[in-house]
Amino acid sequence: MSNQCNLCLPPMVDASEHDELFIGRRILVNGPVIVGAGPSGLAVAAGLQQQGVPFVVLERANCIASLWQNKTYDRLKLHLPRQFCELPYFPFPKEYPEYPSKNQFINYLETYAKHFKINPRFNETVQSAKYDENCGSWRIKTVDTSDYSEIEYICSWLVAATGENAEKVVPEFEGLQDFSGQVMHACDYKSGKAYDGKRVLVVGCGNSGMEISLDLCNYNAIPSMVIRSSVHVLPREILGISTFQLSVSLMKWLPIWLVDKIFVSIARLLMGNIEKYGVKRPSTGPLQLKNTLGKTPVLDIGTLNKIRSGMIKVVPGIKKFSRDGVELENGEFLEIDSVILATGYCSNIPSWLKENEFFSGDGFPKTPFPNGWKGKAGLYAVGFSRRGLSGASFDAIRVSEDIGQIWKQELKQKNQGALSLANRRSCKS
Ligand SMILES: Cc1cc2nc3c(=O)[nH]c(=O)nc-3n(C[C@H](O)[C@H](O)[C@H](O)COP(=O)(O)OP(=O)(O)OC[C@H]3O[C@@H](n4cnc5c(N)ncnc54)[C@H](O)[C@@H]3O)c2cc1C
Ligand SMILES: NC(=O)c1ccc[n+]([C@@H]2O[C@H](COP(=O)([O-])OP(=O)(O)OC[C@H]3O[C@@H](n4cnc5c(N)ncnc54)[C@H](OP(=O)(O)O)[C@@H]3O)[C@@H](O)[C@H]2O)c1
Repeated sequence: MSNQCNLCLPPMVDASEHDELFIGRRILVNGPVIVGAGPSGLAVAAGLQQQGVPFVVLERANCIASLWQNKTYDRLKLHLPRQFCELPYFPFPKEYPEYPSKNQFINYLETYAKHFKINPRFNETVQSAKYDENCGSWRIKTVDTSDYSEIEYICSWLVAATGENAEKVVPEFEGLQDFSGQVMHACDYKSGKAYDGKRVLVVGCGNSGMEISLDLCNYNAIPSMVIRSSVHVLPREILGISTFQLSVSLMKWLPIWLVDKIFVSIARLLMGNIEKYGVKRPSTGPLQLKNTLGKTPVLDIGTLNKIRSGMIKVVPGIKKFSRDGVELENGEFLEIDSVILATGYCSNIPSWLKENEFFSGDGFPKTPFPNGWKGKAGLYAVGFSRRGLSGASFDAIRVSEDIGQIWKQELKQKNQGALSLANRRSCKS
């Protein structure tokens, strides 16, 4: 079984014998098309491969896991223990630490793709995907990023796996165009090496903003971090047990509001009063906030200590930028050399998927976890549950099993049809 397009197939070849049939710039795909070759897309592909279902993976970048390979900083480590980050059917190598590094994770994904013989079609950006009622199929249009050529894929199943963090969010700030220093988004930040002695404004206090501020400190930069509202900061581990693992265990027995209360109390006990440093806690608990608004709590890996010691200055929201600095909402003026926008990411589903029944306007499924993986007419979603890699694995298993089951039924029906036709012919003769 191949998942590569065979552009040399003669036009009359039966599509059921081959994964695809090429007609001009159209490709009929015998099996699902998966959009995105990140962890979610790879996990679904692995599940399909195991069940003998052919598939095509379309990826806009020139590599798998492009978020991890191209858009993350050097010091990044998985922030949940390894058992919550493994993809289905294939464990991490035994020698990997509890919190694998970004490079270890990328190596694991490369091995994963090789092991399951997943060969995405790289440099193909999906521009639109629409269900065609007339032919009962999905029509997926892509453009090749190297030569701008266009291809239309036609298939019965579409798996959206383009991620919750497909595009950077760059808010508009008054006067930013006049600022004379360097401005970049967190997705382009690699390390603090180039910032020695520089005054850097880090906008945003999610996991990216917190870790980049810490990294800048470690390279002798002078970071100020903008916290415009509030944020839950929790220790990554409590008494040697990962906070995430504890939350999973407690949630089995206790209501979410009680687990939240326990975590906030423990965080207060272990971290002290962090509000006096400008780090305000939201009134809604961390898990509740994650569930309702998708706002991830920060798992602290050392930033709080730097804030306490004054090496990272916490500042309020931004009023406006000017040539040499920034005016803050409290009226203070900060002279700065650079700005790093750790202002988050968004889904890009609305830009390419012409559908509004299953996905809402923000590019996330309308039905919450654990039921947001299957839409109508062969549409599936993987990796949009706001539950990181473990949520993506959960979706991927369900999606590949569901498609596998339908595939096997259809195959059985086709075989039965062929058998009865052969029987009728042999009776006649
Ligand atoms: C800095 C950072 C650190 C993170 N750390 C963790 C962590 O430790 N643990 C955790 O669980 N989660 C973490 N996450 C969340 C992370 O998004 C997921 O873990 C994981 O990458 C999700 O996989 P995915 O395949 O769903 O999405 P992605 O990894 O984003 O992959 C989606 C793929 O789809 C491709 N694509 C997008 N649009 C198109 C298109 N139109 N056409 C073709 N291809 C397209 C992209 O190029 C990309 O390769 C982190 C996120 C960030 C930003
Ligand atoms: N080690 C790791 O595993 C790791 C590291 C980094 C990221 N991640 C994950 O990656 C995902 C994205 O994280 P992220 O930190 O990049 O994004 P994020 O969690 O969405 O945080 C964005 C931050 O930017 C702020 N912001 C947005 N617009 C702003 C504006 N106009 N002015 C001031 N502040 C503004 C937000 O403040 P408000 O809250 O006020 O809106 C928020 O603090 C998360 O799931 C995260 O857990 C994981």
